[in-house]
Amino acid sequence: MQIDLYTVATSALIIEVLLIIVLLIGWLYGARRLEFRVHHRAVYSIVLVNSLLVGLWMIPQAINLASFGYFDDFSASWHQILHDTLGLIAVGLSIIVSVVFLIRRDMPLKLLKRTRPLMILILTLWIITFALGVLAYTIFWGG
Ligand code: HEM
Repeated sequence: MQIDLYTVATSALIIEVLLIIVLLIGWLYGARRLEFRVHHRAVYSIVLVNSLLVGLWMIPQAINLASFGYFDDFSASWHQILHDTLGLIAVGLSIIVSVVFLIRRDMPLKLLKRTRPLMILILTLWIITFALGVLAYTIFWGG
């Protein structure tokens, strides 16, 4: 059975939409209500699925685009460059924070509250990257 790239891209888009929904639910009902068990479980699964999707699909696609010279014309590809750059930062930070939290399961509430600005930064980067990803999908597969 052969799966075409359009199917992969559409599946990736659907998965990313689901991840954003779970991320926001985890944020609203977990972190904000101080139910950290819900929040942590949601976040670990999201970070894992997103990292796999980015590592196995998006980064190879970005390399593919680069090999075609897609990034040579900055004015035509700036949104994709921004997507890839912010995405790399979001993925990197989310993996680091998840690993730290997995190692330090005893994290006191004070420390959790101190890492809050970092979480908000990751969430903001994630949402911007997601929006630019939706734009990428419409550009590459919309027509
Ligand atoms: C939080 C991190 C990220 C999120 C939420 C995200 C989200 C998305 C979404 C929703 C799409 C549209 C689905 C698709 O076309 O496959 C997409 C496409 C894409 N992303 Fe990302 N992305 C992230 C990180 C990255 C990174 C780090 C790179 C590369 C360095 C990257 C490269 C791409 C490329 C090249 C496409 C177009 C794939 C194609 O359809 O041919 N993304 N992204």
